[in-house]
Amino acid sequence: MKTAMNHYRGSSDYIVSDDLRHSVNIAIALGKPLLIKGEPGTGKTMLAQSIASALGMELIIWNIKSTTKAQEGLYVYDTVQRLYDSQFQDHDVANIKQYIKSGKLGEAFQSEEQVVLLIDEIDKADLEFPNDLLWELDQMSYYIPETRETIKAKSRPIVIITSNAEKELPDAFLRRCVFHYIAFPNPEEMAEIIKVHHPKLEKRLLEQAMEAFYMLRNLPNIQKKPSTSELIDWLQALVVGGISPNRIKQDLPFLGVLLKKNEDLDNLLLGLQQKTQNRMPPRSNQWSR
Ligand SMILES: Nc1ncnc2c1ncn2[C@@H]1O[C@H](COP(=O)(O)OP(=O)(O)OP(=O)(O)O)[C@@H](O)[C@H]1O
Ligand SMILES: [Mg+2]
Repeated sequence: MKTAMNHYRGSSDYIVSDDLRHSVNIAIALGKPLLIKGEPGTGKTMLAQSIASALGMELIIWNIKSTTKAQEGLYVYDTVQRLYDSQFQDHDVANIKQYIKSGKLGEAFQSEEQVVLLIDEIDKADLEFPNDLLWELDQMSYYIPETRETIKAKSRPIVIITSNAEKELPDAFLRRCVFHYIAFPNPEEMAEIIKVHHPKLEKRLLEQAMEAFYMLRNLPNIQKKPSTSELIDWLQALVVGGISPNRIKQDLPFLGVLLKKNEDLDNLLLGLQQKTQNRMPPRSNQWSR
């Protein structure tokens, strides 16, 4: 198996902290999967894209759904096609190899060049899923009983696994990964991220929008905090809508881009009403002189 010396330094479209960069490079050096956790929108999926583009590698994405089984990532044996072919005599159905279709993991193993393999949202699948992949990810190989073949990775792929922590992952799986938690960006880091997406944004618009954004995230009892991607969309909406910076904190225009739950909207409006009532001068009572 080939192992190339790769060093990830980040890419121009992705802001990466030193800690995250180190975790990526440690995982690459150890040849272990990198497990990335973090709130939605913290750039977990985009990290894999950034690594692939920075290292000039192909990115293979395996999107995990609640119904995904580990086996599908290796290969599927298309028995239906074989049966169909057997009814028309023009195919050599004895050659089973042609009915073995590689999954995403299989593709990554068989690639001539080293690739980045993203196993995205592993926590969507059932608990058996990570356990079922342990051996293959460790050994970087799998056996196909139907053809009596062993597929061994030509180059160990760089494996990035993301999770929103909907479910806890099994200990045996965690032991085999390098782990990194992407903390939610602080305002300085967020300003850097925004610069990537909106390089020409007016400074005051950004400041006011960021203040409003972090105020919303810190609302007591908020059920769904707005994320980085929602802030990026909101800024776009503010620009397209021609909103002046002075209006942002006061009116919170296009709030539906940031808050997606009725309860959060209701809570915020209630809070704002109370604030304005407190700000109003007390009504003078002319009868009580
Ligand atoms: N560090 C970053 N640098 C540049 N853009 C970022 C960064 N973090 C997040 N973004 C932007 O935020 C958006 C969301 O990122 P991404 O889809 O990678 O998040 P995620 O953590 O995978 O979210 P989810 O858990 O919902 O899948 C992306 O479109 C990306 O443009
Ligand atoms: Mg994602």
